[in-house]
Amino acid sequence: MIDIRDRVRCKALHDKIVSAEEAAAFIKPGMNIGASGFTPAGYPKAVPLALAKRMAQEPFKINLWTGASVGKELDGALAEVGGIHKRMPYQTNNDLRNALNSGVVEYFDLHLSESAQLTRYGFLGGKVDVAIVEACAITEEGHIVPTTSMGNTASYVQSADIVIVEVNTTQPLELEGMHDVYVPLDPPHRQPIPIVKVNDRIGTSYIPCGPDKIKYIVPCDISDDVRPFGPIDDCSQKMSELIIDFFKHEIKAGRLPKNLLPLQSGVGSVANAVITGFVNSDFTDLEVYTEVIQDGMLDLADAGKLKFASGTSFSPSPDGLARLYANIGEYRQKMMLRPQEIANSPEIARRIGIIAMNTAIEFDIFGHVNSTHIMGTKMMNGIGGSGDFARNAYLTCFFSTSTAKNGAISSVVPMCSHFDHTEHDTDIFVTEMGLADVRGLSPRERARVIINNCAHPDYKPMLLDYLERAEKATKKAHTPHLVNEALSWHTRFLETGTMKK
Ligand code: COA
Repeated sequence: MIDIRDRVRCKALHDKIVSAEEAAAFIKPGMNIGASGFTPAGYPKAVPLALAKRMAQEPFKINLWTGASVGKELDGALAEVGGIHKRMPYQTNNDLRNALNSGVVEYFDLHLSESAQLTRYGFLGGKVDVAIVEACAITEEGHIVPTTSMGNTASYVQSADIVIVEVNTTQPLELEGMHDVYVPLDPPHRQPIPIVKVNDRIGTSYIPCGPDKIKYIVPCDISDDVRPFGPIDDCSQKMSELIIDFFKHEIKAGRLPKNLLPLQSGVGSVANAVITGFVNSDFTDLEVYTEVIQDGMLDLADAGKLKFASGTSFSPSPDGLARLYANIGEYRQKMMLRPQEIANSPEIARRIGIIAMNTAIEFDIFGHVNSTHIMGTKMMNGIGGSGDFARNAYLTCFFSTSTAKNGAISSVVPMCSHFDHTEHDTDIFVTEMGLADVRGLSPRERARVIINNCAHPDYKPMLLDYLERAEKATKKAHTPHLVNEALSWHTRFLETGTMKK
């Protein structure tokens, strides 16, 4: 067993250091497990792998609550052995995605900022039975120093009867001090969250726990399962240029300060490309208030353009993670991780005036957005934090390539097949074809701007034809639709393999 005693600074806890198998044996069928982790960052690995091994021999299920998606050693391993009954609040794992789209796993997809509070109230079938938490160290007082993510960990530790800590020796000790841990009180006792600037510190650098709650401590030397980003393709490059030009226009119009407002950027390659676009721009002193800190933000820091970035996890590529670890002393001056309840807080998003930039699966001509469901039925990942930011940002931007599946699908449709964000939340749409600014427009005005600026030329005439016929049929109703035809593009794709006529 790896020696982790130097990282367990509370000597009284040394007796609780056990193998992953011994800790996993404590988990009982039907338990609610609250795990650390937000994206493949800072999640427990050794205990879930041991638990999956046990489940393969004596099948049983648990309910799994995390911060967001996690790596393959948790979601993947447990999904593979059919060990999850109900999952919450977000996922990106292929095996799990198949399981929840075939009735094997129940999935509760919700705004990430709300998830901890719902578990504290017990809405999800009781409270946290066991919290399994990755740590880089345990303090002299028995408090937990988190690693590359904060997520819902502090709340799960607070609510749990029992805590199992995995001390991960691949996580550098220099991460200590990069966290700002604050769990709000629940209504009616909640106070204003005292953040007015992205770098305000309001909490502790550790998760309060104490030695008594900790039942087991498990050594682990498996690193975060971070993934490379796709190369920045022409479409992402174009979208990045369009949004940067738009921001310059807004500065000229006096609607944005020179260093913009705090940026929030979604997960994945497009989001990363958009942030990377800022590196080659003439913007300076940029601030970021977001969920996930990816490579683009390290680039911004390296280029001297980043004033401060607040997030809830570090989820860079393998190269980015190596860069973060190698220069952690530099990055810690400019970066901080907070619980997702704070990172995604609607109160703070509205107060500091976030610029929210997220990716859509599809959006419709009236400005509604589907972020989650393929063809209206199959769950892709989940709403994540997109709704926390979309509803409350100063400026809400959605990106998508104009088509998917080699042009067989238009990402701009007459009516979304599922709704995550409504017309009341959205301001800016960007595809590689152009940018639509729909602020202040009526639905019929919005539709023309979205079709003309964002739709692919193959689909533009079809969308305009739909709009004109809908206006005629409804005598220019406020939101003109042909209700029997609105989803026909999706049914045509399902029946023929293309949305084209
Ligand atoms: N209809 C059907 N399928 C579509 C589609 C559409 N309009 N648009 C994309 N797809 C398919 C793609 O073909 C791809 O399929 P594949 O996995 O079989 O190749 C899949 O959906 C993912 O598309 P991709 O272009 O690779 O998307 P991405 O990695 O940029 O992710 C989202 C896009 C929307 C799935 C992702 O951003 C997400 O989960 N968002 C919701 C949560 C969120 O916004 N989080 C950040 C908040 S802080």
